[in-house]
Amino acid sequence: MTTFLPPSDRIWWNVPVGRQELVWIAIALIWCLIMFAMMPIWHIYGKQNLSTEAYQTTPAAYGVKVQEMIDKYTVREESGIPVVHPPAGSDVYMLGRLWQWWPILELEKDKSYRFHLSAMDYQHGFSLQPVNINLQVIPGYEMVINMTPDKAGEYGVICNEYCGIGHHTMVGKIYVGE
Ligand code: CUA
Repeated sequence: MTTFLPPSDRIWWNVPVGRQELVWIAIALIWCLIMFAMMPIWHIYGKQNLSTEAYQTTPAAYGVKVQEMIDKYTVREESGIPVVHPPAGSDVYMLGRLWQWWPILELEKDKSYRFHLSAMDYQHGFSLQPVNINLQVIPGYEMVINMTPDKAGEYGVICNEYCGIGHHTMVGKIYVGE
């Protein structure tokens, strides 16, 4: 018999379910419940999501804040990009635009910062390497991430949201000093 034909026994729903089938249904149900419970549990214990705040802004208003920090705390330049060393514990700003993360930030280890992020034109994807922190960066929204870098070194920022012909060249940098 194939499934194209109607059931020969018209009261098929009265046929008792086989023991093996019941066991599989029970296993599947229990597994569904475990997976369902894992969503909130992993959110809390897996540290999968950063605690972020988001505010509405405009590219122009956000650009002004970024530039204020750059004007105050630029310490040098690297191939035309300002390297900014803001005071420990302060608000630090980075913006994404075609095709740049701007400016380069120089932070201090074990100091906490309020890290602001927004886009000037299109949607970009902030991806911090090699720690694999990923954030969507959207024009019109300013995201604030409370962060405390706990390891010195040079971190790369790449864009992981396709944003046009220069997407693969959209790289930035964050330095964390001892
Ligand atoms: Cu910005 Cu891809």
